[in-house]
Amino acid sequence: VAAEKGLKILIISDSNVDPIYGERYQEGLRQAGFEISRVAVPAGEKSKDLQAVGFLYGQAMAAGLDRSSLILALGGGMVGDLAGFVAATFLRGVRFIQVPTTLLAMVDSSVGGKTAVNLPQGKNLVGAFHQPVEVVADLTSLATLPEREYVSGLAEVVKYGVIWDAAFFKDLESHAERLRSRDEAFLEKVVGRCCEIKAEVVAVDELEVGPRAILNFGHTLAHALESGTGYDRLLHGEAVSLGMVFAARLSSKLKGLPESEAARLVALLQTLGLPVSGSDALGRATDWPKLAWTDIREAMAADKKARMKVPRLVLADRLGSVTTGCEVPDSELMEAWDVIRQ
Ligand SMILES: NC(=O)c1ccc[n+]([C@@H]2O[C@H](COP(=O)([O-])OP(=O)(O)OC[C@H]3O[C@@H](n4cnc5c(N)ncnc54)[C@H](O)[C@@H]3O)[C@@H](O)[C@H]2O)c1
Repeated sequence: VAAEKGLKILIISDSNVDPIYGERYQEGLRQAGFEISRVAVPAGEKSKDLQAVGFLYGQAMAAGLDRSSLILALGGGMVGDLAGFVAATFLRGVRFIQVPTTLLAMVDSSVGGKTAVNLPQGKNLVGAFHQPVEVVADLTSLATLPEREYVSGLAEVVKYGVIWDAAFFKDLESHAERLRSRDEAFLEKVVGRCCEIKAEVVAVDELEVGPRAILNFGHTLAHALESGTGYDRLLHGEAVSLGMVFAARLSSKLKGLPESEAARLVALLQTLGLPVSGSDALGRATDWPKLAWTDIREAMAADKKARMKVPRLVLADRLGSVTTGCEVPDSELMEAWDVIRQ
């Protein structure tokens, strides 16, 4: 890309990120000889819809993009998914670059090539696989990320330790304070390792037909909690944290995960400031007590990974090793939920 002088680039960002970083990227790229246009959608998950896609196609036309042009997603996972979907479909696909600015986007959504928008009926129901030509994660941009968003991103970081790399998990435990305080040197190592793990997992299953499902550890309950709380109260990582505690409990009961290892997971999440029980979640989602088991169970049955309405969970037999497709009896699911919800 660096050699293509005169190349047209459309920067897509959101109303929080654009005022902080938009100008810097626009000017830097302009000085490097590129022709830059820039647009921001309102911040928040509500912008990840087909209306915004239509608006952005219009902006791409107005900017004179052609099939050789490039779209640059500057922001968190919302912008990455939205701009990525626009790039995947505009003129049957133009190249795109991800510049993730949230921890979640750096360690998760910018790697793997999944792009999507939401429908009124549910999240990520329309999408495409479209790999970015480059992912540029500037760790200094995390300095402006609100604390709650940052901590939420740490849940996915912990997940990589559980599903893939026990030594990495131990490293996170030993340096939890450095992680919590956004120590840049440690973060560089952490973000790098998470991207490596995700890339390794995706490489064997780019189109998500099998092994990639291990990335879903903690996500079956998480998705149900997010839909049960209207998507705007619990952040994704907070829901994943609760989902991992739920999965760890079931793992100990059904897969032989030592209780001591399940306890280490709960302790690490807690140290990092993530919720591990209903009382922790209550401060974030005030309608938490209204969550009924039947609704949770129904949402689990609607999960994309469920088969014949039976949820299929990812469970661990030890830290660093998980199995996908575990069908868990309803009584066990309910019992684990009873413990989590308190
Ligand atoms: N494609 C995938 O594989 C994948 C994986 C996981 C999640 N996702 C998607 O990612 C989205 C969630 O991403 P997210 O958690 O990054 O949320 P987000 O993009 O909505 O960002 C969270 C908030 O932080 C603000 N923000 C972002 N960077 C900032 C910065 N550096 N400084 C100050 N404020 C900043 C945003 O404006 C927003 O208000 C969801 O739509 C989810 O579906 C996709």
